[in-house]
Amino acid sequence: MALALILVAAYLIGSIPSALWIGKLFYNKDIRQEGSGNLGTTNTFRVLGKPAGIVVLLMDILKGTAAVLLVHLSYFADVSIHPLLLGMIAVIGHMYPIFAGFRGGKAVATSAGVVLGYAPILFISLAIIFVVLLKLFKMVSLSSILIAIIAFLYSIVAYFYTGDWVFTLMIAVLATFIIYRHRENIQRIKNGTESKVNF
Ligand code: G3P
Repeated sequence: MALALILVAAYLIGSIPSALWIGKLFYNKDIRQEGSGNLGTTNTFRVLGKPAGIVVLLMDILKGTAAVLLVHLSYFADVSIHPLLLGMIAVIGHMYPIFAGFRGGKAVATSAGVVLGYAPILFISLAIIFVVLLKLFKMVSLSSILIAIIAFLYSIVAYFYTGDWVFTLMIAVLATFIIYRHRENIQRIKNGTESKVNF
């Protein structure tokens, strides 16, 4: 019972549709109707501007981190669960949120929050590489896909040092989510029509 409650809590945390709620509450806009229509950080920046984008980015990251930290509740409840499994469930909540008709974001910021909660140094390293990729390609989508692949490759190398196969498996799952959710972006990148960031 306690385990089920913790799993549901992770899903509900991930389900919080930050981009939708910030848009509706403070801008009277539904960002699903504008830009790419995606309930994520990039579309929030695009449609609502920098302050809203930063808030949504932080909230979406926090969702992943908070879900990972729920593992501390499992110690109290005397049940065993891997923190990355909680993080993965939060990412599923982010992609398919119960509070927004199961139409959510593309898994990037919340997955980043999961990494932050589990391996903060890795989070910082990936964040730096992400910024470099973004400067280089000027596409958030492409940078997100590449960072997912880089994180996966890292997790394979890390396995040979740590033997932590759950980490490798969970990073593989998160990377798959990210790539799968970017399939329309991938098509646009191929066509040369993907939107670019102006610095
Ligand atoms: O995190 C989502 C981003 O990689 C792409 O978003 O709105 O350009 O499809 P968008």
